[in-house]
Amino acid sequence: MRVLGIESSCDETGIAIYDTEKGLLADVLYSQIELHMEYGGVVPELASRDHVRKTLPLIQEALQLAGLKKADIDGVAYTAGPGLIGALLVGASIGRSLAWTWGIPAVAVHHMEGHLLAPMLEDDVPEFPFVALLVSGGHTMLVQVDGVGHYRLLGDTVDDAAGEAFDKTAKLLGLAYPGGPAISALAEQGNPDRFRFPRPMTNRPGLDFSFSGLKTFAVNTLAENGNDEQTKADIALAFEVAVVETMVIKCRRVLKQTGLKRLVLAGGVSANRRLRQQLAELVQGHGAQLYYPRPEFCTDNGAMIAYAGSVRLQAGQTEPLAIQAKARWSLAALHPV
Ligand code: KG4
Ligand code: ZN
Repeated sequence: MRVLGIESSCDETGIAIYDTEKGLLADVLYSQIELHMEYGGVVPELASRDHVRKTLPLIQEALQLAGLKKADIDGVAYTAGPGLIGALLVGASIGRSLAWTWGIPAVAVHHMEGHLLAPMLEDDVPEFPFVALLVSGGHTMLVQVDGVGHYRLLGDTVDDAAGEAFDKTAKLLGLAYPGGPAISALAEQGNPDRFRFPRPMTNRPGLDFSFSGLKTFAVNTLAENGNDEQTKADIALAFEVAVVETMVIKCRRVLKQTGLKRLVLAGGVSANRRLRQQLAELVQGHGAQLYYPRPEFCTDNGAMIAYAGSVRLQAGQTEPLAIQAKARWSLAALHPV
């Protein structure tokens, strides 16, 4: 089965074609980063308008790259939430309508399920059950995954998501959007002994996260120490170390609590090198295994949507003609496959 995947939940138009026998046949991405950069973050209305412009030409490009015709596609998968509602409606409307005119089934994909299953696009695939740390611009979750659609939410953020904390702190330091890679790059010049940021919610039991206090800590540290370049680099490093260590502490806890030996890391923040390194050390000490997608499949992309959609389509799931998108959508509410 060949599935066309459409991702448009935020500031990336991602289109891919996944073949359930041959794997990924095409994967194209248009990032709107430059469009939003001057505003320091994503402007929802501009995002929707750009998805409208880019989606069909990118679908045409993906078909050409794969050497396929429209008639070779057996199903369409599109991100239906969570995300920016206008942006989601573009992908959902185009995806659902194409499937109708092509006479093939369509399936609505949960964006975070896409991230969660992205490691399945790699050679070394994690077997179920596993625990997943899902860290993106909008979410920070620890999930026990017993199968596709069998998700138990074990931990969540009580305020900002991990990526959001990176983005807000980067803005404060005068860095460009998106903040994650910018903070990591600046942190390389940082002095590790200058500042120590707190590790929020680690001194009490539980698997929830809170990152908004770290941003406030960065505001105060900057105010007290001046904003010369070295101070900014020292803050970037102390912030990154604190976020990463906090996530590592929670992952240690979740491995212990569940007794599971496989940890999956996914979502935009999973591209973070320090986080990958430290989690690799953690799992080693637990006789466990760490899985994560290649960097381009950590951030938003069409491949993960095409893959997740292919699993659901193969299980017989389809969408009715009424087009639906949801800005908020709980991962735990998904149908088991
Ligand atoms: O998954 P994603 O592309 O979009 C959402 O679903 O939100 O994640 C984007 C987030 C942004 O907040 C960005 O700053 C963060 O992922 N990010 C990183 C890195 N690369 C992207 N955060 C930390 N380190 C990185 N290398
Ligand atoms: Zn995402």
